Amino acid sequence: MATSNVKNGIIYRISGPVVTAKGVQQPKMYDVVQVGDSKLIGEIIKLEGDSAIIQVYEDTSGLKPGEPVVNTGRQLSVELAPGLIGSIFDGIQRPLDKIREESGDFIERGVSVEPLDKKKRWHFVPKVKNGSDVKTGMIIGEVAETSLITHRVMVPPGISGKISGLKEGDYTIVDKIASVSGDSGTSDVSMLQRWPVRMPRPVIEKMPPTMPLITGQRIIDSLFPVAKGGTSAVPGPFGSGKTVIQHQLAKWSDSEVVVYVGCGERGNEMTEILTTFPELKDPKTGKPIMDRTILIANTSNMPVAAREASIYTGITIAEYYRDMGYAVALMADSTSRWAEALREISGRLEEMPGEEGYPAYLGRKVSEFYERSGMVRVLSGEIGSVTAIGAVSPPGGDTSEPVSQNTLRVTRVFWALDASLANRRHFPSINWLNSYSLYYGDLKGWYAENAGSEWDSLHSRVMSILQKEAEINEVVQLVGYDALPEKEKEVLDIAKSVREDFLQQSAFDDVDTYTSLHKQMLMLKAIIAMDEAESRAVSRGVLVEQMNGISAKQKVARMKLAKEDSIDAYYDDVVAAVKEIDQIMASKEKVMQ
Ligand SMILES: Nc1ncnc2c1ncn2[C@@H]1O[C@H](COP(=O)(O)OP(=O)(O)O)[C@@H](O)[C@H]1O
Ligand SMILES: [Mg+2]
Repeated sequence: MATSNVKNGIIYRISGPVVTAKGVQQPKMYDVVQVGDSKLIGEIIKLEGDSAIIQVYEDTSGLKPGEPVVNTGRQLSVELAPGLIGSIFDGIQRPLDKIREESGDFIERGVSVEPLDKKKRWHFVPKVKNGSDVKTGMIIGEVAETSLITHRVMVPPGISGKISGLKEGDYTIVDKIASVSGDSGTSDVSMLQRWPVRMPRPVIEKMPPTMPLITGQRIIDSLFPVAKGGTSAVPGPFGSGKTVIQHQLAKWSDSEVVVYVGCGERGNEMTEILTTFPELKDPKTGKPIMDRTILIANTSNMPVAAREASIYTGITIAEYYRDMGYAVALMADSTSRWAEALREISGRLEEMPGEEGYPAYLGRKVSEFYERSGMVRVLSGEIGSVTAIGAVSPPGGDTSEPVSQNTLRVTRVFWALDASLANRRHFPSINWLNSYSLYYGDLKGWYAENAGSEWDSLHSRVMSILQKEAEINEVVQLVGYDALPEKEKEVLDIAKSVREDFLQQSAFDDVDTYTSLHKQMLMLKAIIAMDEAESRAVSRGVLVEQMNGISAKQKVARMKLAKEDSIDAYYDDVVAAVKEIDQIMASKEKVMQ
């Protein structure tokens, strides 16, 4: 191949999304290149002799050997500036609506669109004085980005010195807002930064998690909480409720910014979020939910390489808002589809396959991704967090496969979705026997202080009731229910109440969809009060079946639908009803005497 007198590279071989080119100018790993006459966007992922191997983020059909490859010399990066919030991007940060405007519904290739609006003006308010010393990551001003998010404008990477020229006013994201003069000269500063997606943004230190991400989902908050800055895996077969859980957390969790990465799921699942989210209101403020949300959509019909990139694009944007001091939650649905993209590309590269055809570095990639989460002290000195929650869709729901296993090795919460629960319409179908949260111990103190001193004892009581139920059910399998002692029948009776009246929670009921910690605690207290009354009754010789239909039971069952603002009164009412159990039992005893 004569490449010496060719300025650009030349395509030499094409295999699906993977293109080999020779003669690319000064190729470096992860350089972004324009591939072919239609300038498809690609990234160098391997260098071999004088060949550059490129993954292409767009459909390569029609591409021919001999077409040019131009190196941009830039790494795959995201643009970071006001205007991110509310956007809907593809896996390489192209705004989906802009691509549609340019090329119609059928997304054409080689469409070049700016990730962010460069003409829109934002009202910038300085937060430091001219003449003060600034350095990378320091907050120098603010922009009201949406009704919910104040965008804190930070000194871009690699810049430090004395700042000058700061002035309140209306600027585009590319306008100069200040100059910084330091040892290495004077740099103009705008509101726009770029950051390579495959590199974590720097922090001062990672801190241990001490605060829960409050989700309003009872089984999560009460039994298997995730910390702010923590990691959680949501594995489950098709139809078990992974997407609904991710949506619930995006809507209800007390994160300030949400980055939702729809990764390789079918188009219609993504359509659901693309059509519903823009209509949703933030439940706490009544403001549009998109005023604190960024969506990244790479459905199964979009090119696999862009899917591979999408989670990095997502987590880099999440880190950027974390750097402003926000609590950010990142959902990825589904990381299995992302891993499949890795596998496909690895196959095209003819790499030695590991388990089930996934590349040997799958585990490293998975852990590198989750390690970008955390509660951290950011460069400005403030505290911010990225919580990462990844759905995993193991074929057939069998979590012994490589993606689940590699995920469980790094994530500290496991919400195991269970097909048999989903089939029984027990939602969320989180299996309480297999699931766990390794954060619970760290968060106990926070709950005791902020949610109620009884929190931990209620947590333990409920876990033990569910555990005992599982043990007793094994006995039932052998000897039948009727042969059980009344004491054990009573445990089953209460466990049923825990499952049906507390753990089951409809995402689609206006009241049930979100439960405050206070209400969760009262609901648990009500169930435990009923348990104690029933136990007393049983020990006085009352049969469990005699307690069917008592009003306390019905009240406990309806408690999830009681409004938050009347929940204390409702609880008092339940406690009064529970006392009736004692009275009824006492009068029964009298009759018997
Ligand atoms: N918390 C919930 N409340 C009510 N219905 C639910 C809940 N979670 C899941 N479902 C039901 O299960 C269906 C499948 O859930 P989905 O999240 O799409 O599954 P997956 O993403 O695991 O394939 C939903 O369409 C809904 O009917
Ligand atoms: Mg789904």
